[in-house]
Amino acid sequence: MVNDKKWGFSTKSIHIGNEADKELGSVSPPIHLTSTFKQDGVGKNRGNDYSRVSNPTRTRLEENLAGLDGAKHAICFSTGMAATTALFQLFDAGDHILVSRNTYGGTYRMSMNVLKRQGMEFEWIDSRDSKNIKKHIRPNTKLVHVETPTNPLLELCDLQETSKICKEAGVLLSVDNTFMSPYGQRPLEYGVDIVMQSSTKSLSGHSDILGGVLTTNNDDLGDRIRFMLKATGGVPSPFDNWILLRSVKTLSLRYQKSSENALKLAQWLSTDYDLKRVIYPGLDSHPQFEIAKKQQFTPNGNNIFGNMISIDVGKIDIRDKFLEKLKVITLAESLGGVESLCCVPYDMTHAAVPVENKIKMGITETLIRLSIGIEDFEDLKGDLQNALAK
Ligand SMILES: Cc1ncc(COP(=O)(O)O)c(C=O)c1O
Repeated sequence: MVNDKKWGFSTKSIHIGNEADKELGSVSPPIHLTSTFKQDGVGKNRGNDYSRVSNPTRTRLEENLAGLDGAKHAICFSTGMAATTALFQLFDAGDHILVSRNTYGGTYRMSMNVLKRQGMEFEWIDSRDSKNIKKHIRPNTKLVHVETPTNPLLELCDLQETSKICKEAGVLLSVDNTFMSPYGQRPLEYGVDIVMQSSTKSLSGHSDILGGVLTTNNDDLGDRIRFMLKATGGVPSPFDNWILLRSVKTLSLRYQKSSENALKLAQWLSTDYDLKRVIYPGLDSHPQFEIAKKQQFTPNGNNIFGNMISIDVGKIDIRDKFLEKLKVITLAESLGGVESLCCVPYDMTHAAVPVENKIKMGITETLIRLSIGIEDFEDLKGDLQNALAK
């Protein structure tokens, strides 16, 4: 593997795992579309024996993603949910896991409808204040899992402080870094134990594949996660691995441009419109703007606030008119693509979360989540202007 630690982020994203093919020198690496590998004798393979266990295309991708997160290990899964499930399945019946109250709805659905049934305990807490996390740690707490920024309320968690609290308590800390990608936030640098990402989103960035990844610097955790993948089988296909390896080459350009678009749109929406709420971590009106400035950085050290904005338009008829009038921005689940998308988390991404929980947190029926892409800023502004016109 070629991995010069001194390389910049873009160079790493283009070169790690992308060495030319040894045999023919193809600059774009081959896809190993195979489930199994010829063995030269019993127990004599040439590095791979079965693709659930390992596949050269996945190995390239894992080297690449480990390099971007600054991790020793990256383990790739078929979806973000497969990655989170494997992460939580490292623990046993009777173990207690603390989770940010406002995580992606699918994390709630899996925990409460699958793993809870099997005896694991989950508690959903406000992770905006790390002292609150500390207060909820119990003798049987094994993991604190936070999302920052959360989906869709963009609540932040101070990674440095939380990491310190977890270390003192002897509890592991994992972070769902899907919204920031390694271009915008690298949680392992703050002492976090495991980073989870849905690579379906900004990592792949073209809304064309599903994937998930867990990264860690801890050898024991790396082994246990790899074993979990092999044992439970949620592996991504070689083709999807190849698409992701190709797409990550442009992550820095895509994430930079989409975040610049989002910042300008959030500033404009919060000043020119009388919306009930405009939530964006890069606005000084965001209650945790200071935390955003403290931990959300590009690899070059500039603050970056991400490509997600949430707005509350206040009334259902305004919401429906808004969604109907959009021409550039598409109503669809998912986020982090080159094309801008929007959704109504109450009915879509967070349908599995009980209504009373949603209302308590502020996920109203009129909250719209915008995933900003890399289209021309003026076209996005024009689209929103038209959709918001009275
Ligand atoms: C923050 C976050 N984490 C995890 C997931 C799950 O990822 P996937 O859809 O790839 O399973 C999502 C999906 O929207 C997400 O937004």
